[in-house]
Amino acid sequence: MAEQQKSEKMWGGRFAEATAASVEAYSASIQYDARLYHHDIMGSKAHARMLARQGLITVEECDAILEGLTEIEAEIDRGEFVFRPELEDIHMNIEKVLTDRIGAAGAKLHTARSRNDQVNLDFRLYLRDEADALDTLLAEVQRAFARMARKYLGAVMPGYTHMQRAQPVLLSHHLLAYVEMFQRDRDRLVGCRQRIDVLPLGSAAMAGTGLPIDRQFVADELGFAAISANSMDTSGDRDFAMEMLFCLNLIQLHLSRLSEELVLWSSKEFEFVRIGDRYCTGSSIMPQKKNPDIPELMRGKTGRVTGALMSLLMTMKGLPLTYNRDLQEDKEQVFDALDTVKASLSITAELMDNTEFNQERLQAATIGGFMTATDLADYLVKRNMPFRQAHGVVGRIVALCQERDCELIDLSLAELQEHSELIEADIFEVLSVEGSINSRLSAGGTAQIRVEEALTRVEQQLGMQ
Ligand code: ARG
Repeated sequence: MAEQQKSEKMWGGRFAEATAASVEAYSASIQYDARLYHHDIMGSKAHARMLARQGLITVEECDAILEGLTEIEAEIDRGEFVFRPELEDIHMNIEKVLTDRIGAAGAKLHTARSRNDQVNLDFRLYLRDEADALDTLLAEVQRAFARMARKYLGAVMPGYTHMQRAQPVLLSHHLLAYVEMFQRDRDRLVGCRQRIDVLPLGSAAMAGTGLPIDRQFVADELGFAAISANSMDTSGDRDFAMEMLFCLNLIQLHLSRLSEELVLWSSKEFEFVRIGDRYCTGSSIMPQKKNPDIPELMRGKTGRVTGALMSLLMTMKGLPLTYNRDLQEDKEQVFDALDTVKASLSITAELMDNTEFNQERLQAATIGGFMTATDLADYLVKRNMPFRQAHGVVGRIVALCQERDCELIDLSLAELQEHSELIEADIFEVLSVEGSINSRLSAGGTAQIRVEEALTRVEQQLGMQ
């Protein structure tokens, strides 16, 4: 009777009692870490090959392990594998079934390995693939923006600071700003991927192992660029996961800023964009409503992605070296953030392809607000007036316009000259929206030729030409 009560866990040797059901339920991670199965099996296969090569298991044992793992992977793929919560996590679920099926060889797989370095390995392998998937999605979104920038090349709109009309710009310049943000997101992922791409396996529990393993062989098998340098650092390290969360946060934050603009721009007050019906929803009470729910949700989901980063930062903050079970709290947050950001990216590419800009409204919005006032000041500066003085002169001209409820361009030459003799007839070209935009020739500026250059470069980088 007492014998039956004893622990049946793979680590149960020293335990006199079976684990409490509440403990099993509280500590199981299989509900979410099952998604690591492919990478867990990939890592175990490389480890088994290394063990055989080092004479720690026989070639026959290795073959049995490889075959058994292939079979298990196919069963999980097909949804036929039964995951058991009492076996805690993906590592134990796979190893237990393997051992039940192939016997002693299966029981040798965990030689010179701990779940501490195994889970770290699985997570890195998984995130390395996810970094690549994110890069592909980001490039798709960039292409959608580049297509729009090409389609609307020449369309003008107000550029804003403080949400006040500031200076006229090309719509394509605004759209290409997002391409730059997403490019930084991609570059950041390249750096993050480099730090993910380090083999942790071989650190064992945390001190390394006395068995004659070959870590470099495993690194080569799994395509890792390097092997970790310190076993203690490795088993307690989740910097790569926090860094991935930070990368995800900036992506979602960029999408959130875009979302805010789409919500604003699709309002009656702006009417800058029309989002396709298929990408909007209606109201259950107000029959006239067409709501921008997708950008709103995207803006809203930024909260949970930020929460995931905060959550892992807080989990990590007081942890002593090396592995602590707290670390199991890392995966759910990262998985949720990944799912959210990937879904947001893929719907953004569709959304942009199904959004139209109202060029007349954009153009009309460039009138009013004295947006070429800086051009007038620059004009005076080119005629040698100190900029601060020019600023004052133009400020007084703007005040006059406000009094008369007119625009700068509506004043006569004589009226302008009352404020400065430096002003001549060529001023009216300078005060026009197109004149203003095309004068902004500085590198990275909004002049049409600069924007065309930028767009061409982006199209080339994105393989669109
Ligand atoms: N499921 C565990 C995790 O996610 C795996 C490692 C468990 N190691 C241990 N010694 N209990 O962190």
